[in-house]
Amino acid sequence: MSFLELVKQRSSVRAFSGRAVEPEKLEYVLECARLAPSAVNYQPWRFFVASAAEARQVLQRCYNREWFTSAPLYILACGDASQSWKRGNDGKDHMDIDVAIAVEHICLAAAEQGLGTCWVCNFDAALCQQELKLPENLIPVAIIPLGYPAGTAEKKGSRKSMVDIVEQL
Ligand SMILES: Cc1cc2nc3c(=O)[nH]c(=O)nc-3n(C[C@H](O)[C@H](O)[C@H](O)COP(=O)(O)O)c2cc1C
Repeated sequence: MSFLELVKQRSSVRAFSGRAVEPEKLEYVLECARLAPSAVNYQPWRFFVASAAEARQVLQRCYNREWFTSAPLYILACGDASQSWKRGNDGKDHMDIDVAIAVEHICLAAAEQGLGTCWVCNFDAALCQQELKLPENLIPVAIIPLGYPAGTAEKKGSRKSMVDIVEQL
């Protein structure tokens, strides 16, 4: 599969079958996150895997949607604000960018393995931090449900055309 085909294949999955994710596939997607690039190679991220019932319920309370409960496991991607690169001239924190690259590696790797994911950022990050007793520097950025898609895949959202997003300087 070419990279373009993989990119086209990935779309947000919001319905999962009951099939468990094989440990080697979970390890594969996490390895793809681990190898992601980051500013100054600081790698300011931590990934928490929630597959046990109690841990899954914590994340389900943080993102209270019926579809979300069908995922057999979740990866909570956190940024470490104490480790991220801040640009010297204006202090811009690159933590979110770094975590986003790693998370998209997870989503693309999962798609390649026949697994489904969906970026979830519209969750209660404060509740998540509190329930998981995360240290202040660890900021929950995204929750990625991971599992085998149930039924037919959702249609990929439409995209702006090339002329709308690219221009010559
Ligand atoms: C940063 C980010 C945050 C997102 N947060 C949510 C979310 O909280 N809930 C949700 O259902 N989808 C969420 N999405 C999924 C987007 O809605 C989806 O990627 C977009 O509609 C394009 O569709 P596609 O992923 O199928 O190509 C998020 C996506 C991104 C990149």
